[in-house]
Amino acid sequence: MVRAWAPGRVNLIGEHTDHTGGLVLPMAIDLGTTVTATPGGDQVELRSPLEPEPAIVPLDVADPAAVSPGWARYVAGVVAELRPTPGLVGAVDTTLPVGAGLSSSAALELAVALALGFSGNALALAQLGQRAEQRASGVPCGIMDQLASAAGVEGHALRIDCTTLAVTPVRLPEGIEVVVVDSGQRRELATSAYAERAVACQVAEAALGPLRDARIADVDRLEDAVVRRRARHVVTENARVEQVVAALAADDRASLADALAAGHASLRDDFEVSTPVLDALVSRLVALDGVVGARLTGAGFGGCVVALVAQGTPLPDDLAHWRVRPSAGARLLPQR
Ligand code: GLA
Repeated sequence: MVRAWAPGRVNLIGEHTDHTGGLVLPMAIDLGTTVTATPGGDQVELRSPLEPEPAIVPLDVADPAAVSPGWARYVAGVVAELRPTPGLVGAVDTTLPVGAGLSSSAALELAVALALGFSGNALALAQLGQRAEQRASGVPCGIMDQLASAAGVEGHALRIDCTTLAVTPVRLPEGIEVVVVDSGQRRELATSAYAERAVACQVAEAALGPLRDARIADVDRLEDAVVRRRARHVVTENARVEQVVAALAADDRASLADALAAGHASLRDDFEVSTPVLDALVSRLVALDGVVGARLTGAGFGGCVVALVAQGTPLPDDLAHWRVRPSAGARLLPQR
């Protein structure tokens, strides 16, 4: 028997920057996915209490995106990348809300890869998971979700430089808690919107070179107004990651509040991935006593809002939320 666990993630700041080699500041959380399985056989066969149909994937699967049911695509993506022998039979269980923007798919990919015997380092595990996700979903996603899940450090967020792939743990101040609030709005990331945003960034980079090195004065010279807004988001967001890293080190709550508010506004106005539901939820949260700051987290178009709150701040009962702790990354668990 083998047991493998991988966490979900919440991103504190640095949204839609990873696919341009930018800066991100996610943390692995104490909600995650466990695969318990027995190696053997010529397929990967997993059951989940959340899913009516099992994932049954032949080891020579050719097109992960064509597999059904839908959740089996992520398993198939890993099998197609890892080409394991033998297969396995087992079960998946999760404490993550599925499809809510906390990277339940990345957690599934990494737990499956570890259960199938993947033995490389955290970066290699994340890269395998990213390729599996891209093949399964068709979304040209960046490395953030999988690298946060693979490289998590207890008590710390992770500053990731998506150009060098260097991961620097950033301790969260005592007295600040991270709360994830579910908007209830669901939208598949596998829509054209994510890819469209990525293309706009590529157009900007064709004119300016890497956005990571661009200045606002350069961005202002871009001709197309939409491309200009998308690029402005990325350039200002990279700077906000550095601002939040410094503000966490100094426990500077005013600066945290400013950066999160500006980040949300930029996703709303420049990158245009927010929704009225997310905007209203952020406004409501930041008006509450004890809430330091809040913003939409993840790809947008629904999903969750992340809030930094003073330790022990209660949130209203009608808000579906999780108090999450920064946790260690994906790993094999001792057998029971
Ligand atoms: C999704 C992608 C990530 C990242 C975020 C937005 O979660 O999978 O790579 O681009 O959106 O920051």
